Amino acid sequence: MCARPLESSVRFSVANLPNRTIARYPLSRMVFLLSARMRAEVLYPAVAVLLTMAFSGFCNGAQSADLSTASVSRYEYHSVHDPDGIGKFYLGREIAAVMGHQGADWLERPEREQEEQPARLVEQLKLKPGDVVADIGAGTGYVSRRLATKVAPRGKVLAVDIQPEMLNLLTNQMASLGITNVVPVLGTESDPKLPPNSVDLVLMVDVYHEFEFPYEMMSAICRSLRPSGRVVFVEFRAEDPQVPIKPLHKMSEAQVRKEMAPLPLRWVETIEVLPRQHIIVFVRQP
Ligand SMILES: C[S@@+](CC[C@H](N)C(=O)[O-])C[C@H]1O[C@@H](n2cnc3c(N)ncnc32)[C@H](O)[C@@H]1O
Repeated sequence: MCARPLESSVRFSVANLPNRTIARYPLSRMVFLLSARMRAEVLYPAVAVLLTMAFSGFCNGAQSADLSTASVSRYEYHSVHDPDGIGKFYLGREIAAVMGHQGADWLERPEREQEEQPARLVEQLKLKPGDVVADIGAGTGYVSRRLATKVAPRGKVLAVDIQPEMLNLLTNQMASLGITNVVPVLGTESDPKLPPNSVDLVLMVDVYHEFEFPYEMMSAICRSLRPSGRVVFVEFRAEDPQVPIKPLHKMSEAQVRKEMAPLPLRWVETIEVLPRQHIIVFVRQP
């Protein structure tokens, strides 16, 4: 009885049906009441779209469930932990909390020159003009600007950080010094956002111990390296109790090497010329 008006129009609306019909007919019968044209032009395409959306949601859900399972099993979480850490552990080490941009002045303290001897560090990196260097966790650019002069004029420094406030400070610094070959890059906790196969040297000064996703970060870093690319860690020596830095912000050479073992990197050397820090060098494995 109510099929007639529907058959004559493709503008289907439940409002066209008398209330009694809606109440009395279950969904399958309502579908049957639609004209063949309505079913072909409106109903079936809509169902196809809904099924596609549901299926892709299911696949994405399965994929992210896979990733999160892998992440969970790679890391351990403890509610009782060091106040300087985040309660997340990787291969027996607690990950340190990220140093906030509010502490930026500490990175630019004048005593740093003598405590860390950055010129000596840069000299050890043996950079060439034209090299592409990624300074991961660049902060205010204290190290980036020293690298920039070594690779100029054609080389560049990709200064990666996860805090936009740090990148703003870095950008202002470079502008005031007239340095034009430092490119700020906003990364995420698990991805430095570097183009693949593009970097000659990845440097991390006092930062690796803060990575919330060390395995994921290092995997992405390995993908960004050119075939002969190097990865250099500069970390305060955990082996030396005289180094006046909080324990979670130091790393031993053995721990760095243990954490790099699952990655396509080969340890080359550990250079001990700085007063407080290791310089630990790896190259990309073919
Ligand atoms: C202690 S500061 C060192 C800054 C700089 N390397 C220096 O020596 O002056 C650590 C920096 O690493 C950054 N950081 C932490 N986790 C990061 C990640 N996953 N990717 C990029 N930067 C990160 C922080 O935002 C912070 O600016």
